[in-house]
Amino acid sequence: MALRHIVTQEDKILHKVCREQVKFDERLHQLLDDMAETLENANGVGLAAPQVGILRRVVLVIETNVEDEEDEEIIELINPVIVKTEGEQVGAEGCLSVPGEYGIVRRPSCVTVRAQDRTGNWFEYTGTGLTARCICHELDHLDGHLFTEKVERMLSDEELKKSGSED
Ligand code: CO
Repeated sequence: MALRHIVTQEDKILHKVCREQVKFDERLHQLLDDMAETLENANGVGLAAPQVGILRRVVLVIETNVEDEEDEEIIELINPVIVKTEGEQVGAEGCLSVPGEYGIVRRPSCVTVRAQDRTGNWFEYTGTGLTARCICHELDHLDGHLFTEKVERMLSDEELKKSGSED
């Protein structure tokens, strides 16, 4: 495994539409393993392939709704499509490609996504709360969109100091 460089919002690649992942080969597995290491190293909750310079429909989301932090699990979503959403949440959101900036974004409170795993098998996954927010945020990356396009407002430095950094 190796750390990959996370590009920031000025990079054109973050504003492009990603292509479908068609091969479920060693190269994909290497990308997924590298992305996992990069995500954990950056202390994030999700990462999309374009953030490491790869224009493919591949994302990682960490399931954080667990009792013990050690049970946090990385969900690999390849060619993901949202098939159902429910409810609404309004809260602070950030992005590893927009370091140090946070904004208030409205998202569904529950999201079901259909995706392929690393061997190409289709499955469905349902996330709530932060996981639902993260699924929406990462899938937006695959279509070239950043949370900054969807914010109701950005948080001020004062607010950030008060709340500490939140994802
Ligand atoms: Co992001």
